[in-house]
Amino acid sequence: MVSYKDLGLVNTRDIFAKAMKGKYAIPAYNFNNMEQMQAIIQACVETKSPVILQVSKGARDYANINILRNMARGATQYAHELGCDIPIVLHLDHGDSFQTAKDCIDNGFSSVMIDGSHLPYEENIALTKQVVEYAHQFDVTVEGELGVLAGIEDEVSSAVSHYTRPEEVEDFSSRTGVDSLAISIGTSHGAYKFTPDQCTRNAEGILVPPPLRFDILEEIEKRIPGFPIVLHGASSVPQEYVKIINQFGGKLTDSVGIPEEQLRKAAASAVCKINIDSDGRLAMTAMIRKVFAEKPAEFDPRKYLGPARDELKKMYMRKNIEVLGSAGHALD
Ligand code: G3H
Ligand code: 13P
Ligand code: ZN
Repeated sequence: MVSYKDLGLVNTRDIFAKAMKGKYAIPAYNFNNMEQMQAIIQACVETKSPVILQVSKGARDYANINILRNMARGATQYAHELGCDIPIVLHLDHGDSFQTAKDCIDNGFSSVMIDGSHLPYEENIALTKQVVEYAHQFDVTVEGELGVLAGIEDEVSSAVSHYTRPEEVEDFSSRTGVDSLAISIGTSHGAYKFTPDQCTRNAEGILVPPPLRFDILEEIEKRIPGFPIVLHGASSVPQEYVKIINQFGGKLTDSVGIPEEQLRKAAASAVCKINIDSDGRLAMTAMIRKVFAEKPAEFDPRKYLGPARDELKKMYMRKNIEVLGSAGHALD
């Protein structure tokens, strides 16, 4: 058993309470490798933002849980070395079973998500409660989910999406004891969040997605006031990266994300955690493709992963400052 407290990590309790009070959201950035972790920590130290380092099941399979745990330990030491002990959470993203969640808790994670959103309501409650009972023994915080996002939720494929039903949130949060709740109000995973026929086009021909359902969010806030809400699928799919990718041989047609002004509005509400993964993938891919195209003789991975890392850092800094509002809140 490895305790996250010995790794210099924190759970989400205090940082969510502060984010709720301060009307901002904590960034939850996914990572699978060293460059992503370095970019996240550099960006969050420079903007003085708390951060959630998020690990999916796919990341665990790719990178190994021991390596990821030690990278999170390295992240706390790296932040210290860079001059600011920002609060860092190591979080399991889309945990699919009690065993996966337990395994992460036993391996130094400070927060876990148990995603029972695809299950019948009572089964979601039973599974989430089981994880909460285990996690809370070790002061690990738990995120549950109600409502199904469109697209692919990690291993959990959801052909049918449905918005969170506000009438269920009070019962779910009180019966499970979860610390935060992920909801479905129109976001979705990946770089293709909507089909072109679900969108309109602006004057430049860019797809404009349907607005998020802030009415559902408000209804949820009324029923569980002060309860931390989580937004998954919150990449904005920056078109400048899509353009670079396509310019240098990529093929991303009709990709569309969530407009950042809507995320800014969400961050000022009870939404305390905003999940961003796809935007990081796009930023890295854009820079790697650019180097490959412009410097075809280059074959040192540092020469293309380095620029990718720098661009990632720049993007995360901008998100913290302009979208989530978490910049400057590391030492609240
Ligand atoms: O919500 C899903 C995350 O973007 C993680 O994706 O399973 O490909 O690592 P992944
Ligand atoms: P995006 O695909 O929009 O980045 O969402 C990531 C996410 O929700 C991870 O859990
Ligand atoms: Zn997600």
